[in-house]
Amino acid sequence: MDRIKVEGGARLQGRVSISGAKNGALPSMAAALLAQGRFRLARVPSLMDVITMQKLLKRLGATCEYRTGEGVMEVEARQLTSVEAPYDLVRTMRASILVLGPLVARCGEAVVSLPGGCAIGSRPVDFHIEGLRRLGAAIELSDGYIRARTQGLKGARVVFPIPSVTGTENLLMAAVLAQGETVFENAACEPEVTDLARLLRAMGARIEGEGTTTIRVQGVSSLKAVDWEVVPDRIETGTFALAAAMTGGELVIERCRPEHVTALLDKVRAAGATVEEHEGSVRVLGNGRPRAVDVTTDPYPGFPTDLQAQFMAWMAVAEGSSIVAERVFQQRFIHVSELRRMGADISVSGSQAVVRGVPALQGAEVMATDLRASASLVLAGLIAKGATVVHRVYHLDRGYERMVDKLRAVGARIDRLK
Ligand code: EPZ
Repeated sequence: MDRIKVEGGARLQGRVSISGAKNGALPSMAAALLAQGRFRLARVPSLMDVITMQKLLKRLGATCEYRTGEGVMEVEARQLTSVEAPYDLVRTMRASILVLGPLVARCGEAVVSLPGGCAIGSRPVDFHIEGLRRLGAAIELSDGYIRARTQGLKGARVVFPIPSVTGTENLLMAAVLAQGETVFENAACEPEVTDLARLLRAMGARIEGEGTTTIRVQGVSSLKAVDWEVVPDRIETGTFALAAAMTGGELVIERCRPEHVTALLDKVRAAGATVEEHEGSVRVLGNGRPRAVDVTTDPYPGFPTDLQAQFMAWMAVAEGSSIVAERVFQQRFIHVSELRRMGADISVSGSQAVVRGVPALQGAEVMATDLRASASLVLAGLIAKGATVVHRVYHLDRGYERMVDKLRAVGARIDRLK
């Protein structure tokens, strides 16, 4: 298995270009199932999860050509030959659940493997299932599969107990072809959800309120394939903003949407770095040892849970102690034990971690456990004394396009070891 070796101490300097978002590309690819023509998606990042979703669309009978060099994917779901998302694909990528809504809406049935849990929690999909039932699908759960069937979806009022990103996306993609009006309440407001709603509207759907907690949909009878561009990755943007701040360097982060990471940028400023937001780019300068800053993760526009581990890596060397409260997932502190191996002084109780800043981290061999934890270990390696080797970097490949190349291009002493 590949590993990443990082020599700490380099100040990052220069410009880095942000890729399309994994969590924007995946729902957009699933939306292609709702129309019959040729669907052209630009700025698709070349990531493991995108390849998995491509395999799944092909299994369902769609054509799906991906020109990685240009980042362009063309999908044609003229006629689907299967409605099944099998376990072997879903277990490698839980976001496969995003084909459930489109399949039920388009074909009247779907057989989708229940995604298992993962390193950051049990990750149930009960909101997806309950919401589809509200929309008129009969659903049974048997031998690890969700079996959904409907004579035709009908609009309904769907209230999410707590905001769910893929739950909102899945049910949006079902409601757009349902008969009548659907009202979602307590819907997720993440930029990827908003972007999906705009994509569906471009396809002919009638949606209003995206980006707020109440989204209204008037069902239509059919949708058309369109050209679309994936939204820039706000988590990658935040990750590079932290890399600049942590290394005392200066990065201009381009082709991004700073307004999608306001909560993170505010915390980076509060900890002492300089942040200048511009149209489509953000410039971040590190100013030495950070002040300790408390952070609580929340649904958008709150501080993103996907940047919690990365921010903690920085607080590990802060002046003072900070409290990191994880309120989105039950157990998203697996990176703590790895950061401790590098000399961090962190104690976890329940959904809170107390991070007591130490003067410096020490390089060590560490193991990535989930996508964003692996990014936090790379960041920690950038500032640690000596060398850090991060094992199981396939986690990183799932969500960061060419991260090692991008970091090396701005001065990081980093290599990928076969
Ligand atoms: C999406 O996951 C993202 N994945 C995650 O990114 C991200 O961490 C998460 O949203 C939160 O922002 C994709 O978009 C593909 P949720 P999702 O449904 O939709 C509970 C990454 O690193 N819940 O918003 O699965 C759930 O357990 C990944 O790129 C239910 O209880 O997250 C969690 O506590 C990791 N029942 C909370 O809601 C449900 O039916 C929010 O989860 C659904 C969710």
